[in-house]
Amino acid sequence: MSAAMKLSISPGRVNFLVISLLVTLHLSLTTASIQRYFGSKTAYELIHPPPEIVIEDEFNSVQVGTFSCLAAHSSAVMRHGARYPGLEDVETISKIHNEIKDKLTIDKFQELKEWTNSFPRNDDKILMALGEDEHIHLGQRTARRLRSLFVDEDMENFRFLVSSKQRTQESGNAYYEGFLQALVGDTEEGDMDSELSDETLRFHERCQKYIRTVDKNKTAIKEFFKFRSGKEMTNILKKVSSKLGIPENLLKTENLRTMYLVCGYETALYQSSPWCSLFDEEDFKVLEYLSDLKHYYKNGPGHKITGVQSCPLVTDIFTTMDDAIEAMETEVDEEDLNGYILGNFYFGHAETIGPLYTALGLFNDTLPPTADNYEQQSSRLFRTSEILPFSANLMLILYECDQNDELLTESEAADETRETSQYMLRLYVNEKLMKIPGCEDFTCLYSHVRKRFVDLISCNFSQVCDYNDRPRDEL
Ligand SMILES: *[C@@H]1O[C@H](CO)[C@@H](O)[C@H](O)[C@H]1NC(C)=O
Ligand SMILES: *[C@@H]1O[C@H](CO)[C@@H](O)[C@H](O)[C@H]1NC(C)=O
Ligand SMILES: *[C@@H]1O[C@H](CO)[C@@H](O)[C@H](O)[C@H]1NC(C)=O
Repeated sequence: MSAAMKLSISPGRVNFLVISLLVTLHLSLTTASIQRYFGSKTAYELIHPPPEIVIEDEFNSVQVGTFSCLAAHSSAVMRHGARYPGLEDVETISKIHNEIKDKLTIDKFQELKEWTNSFPRNDDKILMALGEDEHIHLGQRTARRLRSLFVDEDMENFRFLVSSKQRTQESGNAYYEGFLQALVGDTEEGDMDSELSDETLRFHERCQKYIRTVDKNKTAIKEFFKFRSGKEMTNILKKVSSKLGIPENLLKTENLRTMYLVCGYETALYQSSPWCSLFDEEDFKVLEYLSDLKHYYKNGPGHKITGVQSCPLVTDIFTTMDDAIEAMETEVDEEDLNGYILGNFYFGHAETIGPLYTALGLFNDTLPPTADNYEQQSSRLFRTSEILPFSANLMLILYECDQNDELLTESEAADETRETSQYMLRLYVNEKLMKIPGCEDFTCLYSHVRKRFVDLISCNFSQVCDYNDRPRDEL
């Protein structure tokens, strides 16, 4: 006999309490699970729950073979936090609501019937309070994990780059606030000193080849359109129409995507949304896949130029690390050592970090996702809810490693040609350690990584992004 059945013989009041408890529990569980499928609109901490305790200096040192390594520099690229929807979605959902609200007769959808659109009616896509929190927390965790590297250092040794958008600047400010809080306690210092750099963070608006062949080319995301009107989506449309008690031809499958996105945005803002009640978990998985297809062919491995255009960012990161190494190499026992950049932080967009993943060869599925292979893609690497949620982040840590003589064998110690020091790299994506593509181990020689990506590091942006319109003789 189940616990619930046993309890059902107790007095009515207890019974009622138990039932409402179970209902609440069920509701919160359902909300928790659907919140994992909002693709690039997923709230960061829902998909990557922060540990309860962040270990101080967790990332600060690592032992590699006979080498003892200490963090010497860190570069991180972050997407802005949770933001408000753009104007198109805001206006479309009102249109959809107007279409259906008078036809809703089922009590269950009273809340949806009375729903009002409370999103700002502009296209500013500003950061939500939730997005600010995501970055405050991220700044705190990074400062704690690399405390010994950062503490007591001059702010001149940090670099903060933002794009021209409010949401990246406010994300940067929030990160900075959390960073200083964790490092030096309460602060009254104002906003960070940041550099505006659309060159490294919004290259997608400057690369003509990308703009013409991918961004403004509907054929480039044809798998998205095909899936959007395919059998999985049509099936959801039937289910939703029948749930709502409306004719099947009232809504289109593309409306489902807007309803799903609004469910996501409202869940981020208010923890729940009446739009979510239209879908079940399977539907969310299908809608997530639809979003993934768009990102895969727009911000991911779908087209080569998408990764290649990130070269100004890759160059900037590696140049900063090269400079750091050079400064360390020239540090001779002098009192006033050359300062170098210890922390290099970029605040960008999904259009920044998606192409960066692609350029580095991350999340590159052997079988590309298409409109026809949804079933086979259930364990795909390119899942935007995981890899491109709000506040998605990628961090490289450069380590200075010295030979620990105590760990050497006698013959090793006698070998005068052996390396006594080297620089190593580690990669963290969304705060989890990942192998850098082309490396066998989690900790990899800096020179090895640099060599693998040398084409990107030394690329000529105007050359790789050059696009010559072919003569339109077919017209
Ligand atoms: C648009 O994308 C398709 C598919 O990738 C490609 O074959 C075509 O050449 C692209 N069009 C332009 C103008 O680049
Ligand atoms: C991604 O994988 C494909 C084939 O599996 C390969 O051709 C391509 O070079 C890879 N992309 C990167 C950036 O490594
Ligand atoms: C980059 O390529 C362009 C041509 O696309 C050329 O004019 C320019 O000189 C190149 N820049 C460098 C630094 O080589």
